[in-house]
Amino acid sequence: MVALAFASLAWPATARAQEAPNPLPHFEHRDGRHALIVDGAPFLILAGQTNNSSAWPSALPGVWSAVERLGANTLEVPVYWEQFEPDPGHYDTTLVDALVRQAREHRVRLVLLWFGTWKNGSSHYEPLWVKANPELSPKIVGRNGMRVDSPSPHSAAALAADSKAFAALMRHLKASDSPHTVILVQVENEPGAWNSIRDYSPAADALFRQPVPADLLAALGLGAKGGGDWRKVFGQDADEFFHAWSVARFVGQVAAAGKAEYALPMYANAALRDPISPGPAGTYESGGPTDNVLAIWKAAAPALDALAPDIYQRDSARYRRVLELYARPDNPLLVPENGGSPFYAGMFFAALGKGAVGWAPFGIDRGPDGYVPITGRKTDEDPLSGFALNYRMVGPIMREVARANFEGRLKAVAEEPGEHAQAMEFGAWKAVVTYGVPAFGNGAEPKGSPDNTGRALVAGIGENEFLVTGHDCRVDFQPSGAGAQREYLRVEEGSYVNGSFRPIRIWNGDQTDYGLNFGSVPVALRVRLGTY
Ligand code: DGJ
Repeated sequence: MVALAFASLAWPATARAQEAPNPLPHFEHRDGRHALIVDGAPFLILAGQTNNSSAWPSALPGVWSAVERLGANTLEVPVYWEQFEPDPGHYDTTLVDALVRQAREHRVRLVLLWFGTWKNGSSHYEPLWVKANPELSPKIVGRNGMRVDSPSPHSAAALAADSKAFAALMRHLKASDSPHTVILVQVENEPGAWNSIRDYSPAADALFRQPVPADLLAALGLGAKGGGDWRKVFGQDADEFFHAWSVARFVGQVAAAGKAEYALPMYANAALRDPISPGPAGTYESGGPTDNVLAIWKAAAPALDALAPDIYQRDSARYRRVLELYARPDNPLLVPENGGSPFYAGMFFAALGKGAVGWAPFGIDRGPDGYVPITGRKTDEDPLSGFALNYRMVGPIMREVARANFEGRLKAVAEEPGEHAQAMEFGAWKAVVTYGVPAFGNGAEPKGSPDNTGRALVAGIGENEFLVTGHDCRVDFQPSGAGAQREYLRVEEGSYVNGSFRPIRIWNGDQTDYGLNFGSVPVALRVRLGTY
């Protein structure tokens, strides 16, 4: 019942009725926190991303099957430059129109991924007429003088061509998407270079010998040091920082050209370096928004609203470190790609606990039914099930979670192997989460949940009032006042419909006497507490 209620919540009544346009999606920032505002209120992107070659009508049935199984409120899906502009200045909107139309039919929003000049550090999505003209979009040159399969950020012609196409896309969206089915746009995909730290062509070398731009020095607080060329100012980081600045300037200008047509919020995504023990430059993609160059990207590309990590770090210390590095007062935390294993499903709650405004597993359109990707394997178990459970827990209370997040009233935790109890502080109350305790009785030592995939979320919604959901855990509350003991005044299971909580039953007796026990069935509880 809870799960069914939520899908429609992602979609505004006005869009259903095709009425007047809604306010433009945008980011708001307050006290170092962030919200993506959609239909006038904070929105939490509960998304999935398609495989790269799935934005075609022939593959979309499998995509929508996956979206439904996942219970996503948003789909992240590419728009391919090579398809969108098959000939210079001739724009083919059939695919993007099909995406928008079908998204509306499925009551989900879209994050469009502009596969333009960069895709994973290469330029494989450039149209044929660009690829056929290396003068227009040259590849970079490695230190050994050999060409590297990565586009140069120094080509004014490539920048103009990409910006023109992206602007045409945004212009088309503005003209055709008044309900704001598209809520966010990713500009390029994992820009930067593999196999070379920067472009070492003669033209790039000449730029490298120029003084570091004064606006970058000022943004980094280095203005007083007098400046100089890149090597002088940045020493052994100079090659990497030069490439980051150059790529970010390019991507930022493409974004600005798009925003000039239609100012949807925009972001760039990063192929990460190891967040705990990064190797030297050259051992990871160079020039993208990796954690060490976020300040450079912020200065170079102000048209981007967020710099977003693609997290394929299958270890919780690294995963959590990435969250810390990208959740900043000047940067909304958005995780547009996660690996597909069950480990990442638990980390969704770790991301929420750090204020994430959006999250998605990558490559959702695979088994057990529907489309299996070109290189995919069919599986018996639905690989989306762990992610779907998350969205069934949070979906029914999505708007309240997003608002609590923006107002600093949201806490969430994910179980760590060996750490069987976690606490969340709410001033007058402490929410204590334990994993692996029997549902009946107090006093048993927590032993950890069967697969260490417990997780819980608590949102303060009023004085002594909370929304609570969880999986494989117990949540209980302790008052901070000396000598006071907690009493569950009212615990209701239900969900939100059009902004109002609709209870379907009251929990009491065994269901509250020992705390609130969550198993594998997704439920949302509204809890009113007192003391005696
Ligand atoms: C990260 C890229 O951004 C995606 O488009 C895709 O190539 C995945 N890697 C594959 O793991």
